[in-house]
Amino acid sequence: MKQRQVYVNGEMVPEEEARISIFDSAVLIGDSVIETARTFHHKLFRWPEHRDRLLRSIKAARMNFGLTTAELDRVTQKFLEDNLPTLEEGDEGGVGHLVSRGRMGLVLSPTTSTFVMYFYPLSPGLKAKAVYYDKGLHVVTPPTRHMHPLTVDPKIKYRSRLHFSLADAEARLIDPEALALMLDHQGNLAEGTGWNFFVVNRGEVLTPSERNILQGVSRLTTIELARGLGMTVRETDIQPYHATTADEAFMTSTSLCMMPVTRFNGQPIGDGRPGPCTLRLIERWKEYVDFDFIAHAKRWA
Ligand SMILES: Cc1ncc(COP(=O)(O)O)c(C=O)c1O
Repeated sequence: MKQRQVYVNGEMVPEEEARISIFDSAVLIGDSVIETARTFHHKLFRWPEHRDRLLRSIKAARMNFGLTTAELDRVTQKFLEDNLPTLEEGDEGGVGHLVSRGRMGLVLSPTTSTFVMYFYPLSPGLKAKAVYYDKGLHVVTPPTRHMHPLTVDPKIKYRSRLHFSLADAEARLIDPEALALMLDHQGNLAEGTGWNFFVVNRGEVLTPSERNILQGVSRLTTIELARGLGMTVRETDIQPYHATTADEAFMTSTSLCMMPVTRFNGQPIGDGRPGPCTLRLIERWKEYVDFDFIAHAKRWA
């Protein structure tokens, strides 16, 4: 099998040999923004939305980025094509983009950003999660809060994620199977440590508004598909109460697409099984991407 390549500042290098300076702002102070997109049938899903979110993150983080939109499209597509042959038969891949402020000295004054792309097979990450498509995920709200939107706006997809690591560790202390669902500074539900959250309450689909979350591409897709099915979707502040008393809940993310959530802070959501709206939306997702992402995940489990 071909060796995976990493793109570092315009050069393709084998993954094992790729390096950036330990004085890079990404390493020294976690000052970097990222993007991750996945393939279906070896084509990037909603790349324009991912690309535009990356460009917005770069601008909002006040970083310099030398590439035009057309160049970014071209290098990303070429990078994907070079790495697709490294996938096992039947697998799909993810492309990660990382842009940092660049190499710094003792003071932060870099002028040239660092731009890295990496490629990964989806199967190793899906393997451990596949069982939860049937059983539903457990989520717990940990004591560590999400970043205050007035400190770093969560609409920027940034890499400094210490608060997320702490939150997931805290959630596992309560329930070893649980993922952390972050509360914001006001006690509203915000998002997971790499995913967005929805509840279904009395026929209405509710999800936190963009004020305190990342504008997830899978979230956007789910909202569009739900509205297309005639469901009412409201983007609004929701509290733990809404999850505790919800009929159904689910999460969305690039790698998992959409997955039921069946336990919240130690209590079952609804009857503790994936609900009918969730299952209907998952079927609609599969049709939309023309790909059975659940069968794909289970295949490696
Ligand atoms: C903090 C956060 N929220 C939500 C998401 C889900 O976004 P998307 O659906 O674009 O993967 C991610 C994805 O990595 C994330 O990091």
